[in-house]
Amino acid sequence: MSTMLEVSGLSHRYGTGDQAHTAVNELSFTVEAGQLACIVGPSGCGKSTLLRAIAGLLPPTSGTVSLHGDRVDGVPDDLAVVFQDYSRSLFPWLTVAKNVEFPLRWGKLSKAERRAQAASALDAVGLSGVGGKFPWQLSGGMQQRVSIARALASRPALLIMDEPFASVDAQTRFELEDLLRRVQAQQGTTVLLVTHDIDESVYLGDRVLVLSKSPARIVADLPVGLPASRDQITTRESAEFVALRGEVARLLHGSPAQAAAADAAEWELASAAEKTEKAVTEDMQSS
Ligand SMILES: Nc1ncnc2c1ncn2[C@@H]1O[C@H](COP(=O)(O)OP(=O)(O)O)[C@@H](O)[C@H]1O
Ligand SMILES: [Mg+2]
Repeated sequence: MSTMLEVSGLSHRYGTGDQAHTAVNELSFTVEAGQLACIVGPSGCGKSTLLRAIAGLLPPTSGTVSLHGDRVDGVPDDLAVVFQDYSRSLFPWLTVAKNVEFPLRWGKLSKAERRAQAASALDAVGLSGVGGKFPWQLSGGMQQRVSIARALASRPALLIMDEPFASVDAQTRFELEDLLRRVQAQQGTTVLLVTHDIDESVYLGDRVLVLSKSPARIVADLPVGLPASRDQITTRESAEFVALRGEVARLLHGSPAQAAAADAAEWELASAAEKTEKAVTEDMQSS
């Protein structure tokens, strides 16, 4: 297998001086070609920052990103991104087919080739009949399928997905998860997907990278030994799935005893702060 993505010593800090906030701290990992790698981490830990830096949308404070050996500096041509918010990522004034064709305009394809490639991408996500409709005529789940089709139409070397199924209902989410695994296997796409959902990371991934709380560090890099062909019911019931999701949960939240200790410490801090505040208020009132 060849290395598709190499992230090396990547850090990102927002702001400067007192306002500085380190969102990503010294991350290094690689993703092999054809792999579906999931990154799971708590909200606010720096996942979107990491993806934006990998996609060349944000220059990192330090460290490097390489895609098939080429240093990323600006958005690479053969990289596609799918965001959580499908309603803002599709153009409402273009039909579904035109939306999917849109990014192909900058390539070397003829008009007929662009049309054919867009049609085949829509077909891959089970939307061959809706090319003539407008995005707002479709359900949220279908709109997100259009976003996936648009990303796949350019046959990217790397597909980056930032919580792509976080805004759809649970049933649609399951359908989209299965769709992604199916299309990814068919097309051999390399995928880096970020989620805050532990079960989703294990269900989807060939591998799960677990991030710490902010600033994001890698706390574990776990291979997922589940069979390639997965099923929402039997896979989620299997002993391997249950064991792995437990392991990821412990890495994210600590053992129940650790979590309780952290809660108690937080409560003590809060009540100490409250006492101080009360003392200060009384002091002010008596003076
Ligand atoms: N443009 C920005 N300017 C300043 N701070 C930011 C900016 N974007 C994100 N942050 C902060 O960086 C941290 C990580 O954010 P983000 O990467 O969006 O996390 P996640 O995607 O894991 O929820 C958060 O504390 C967030 O408030
Ligand atoms: Mg995010």
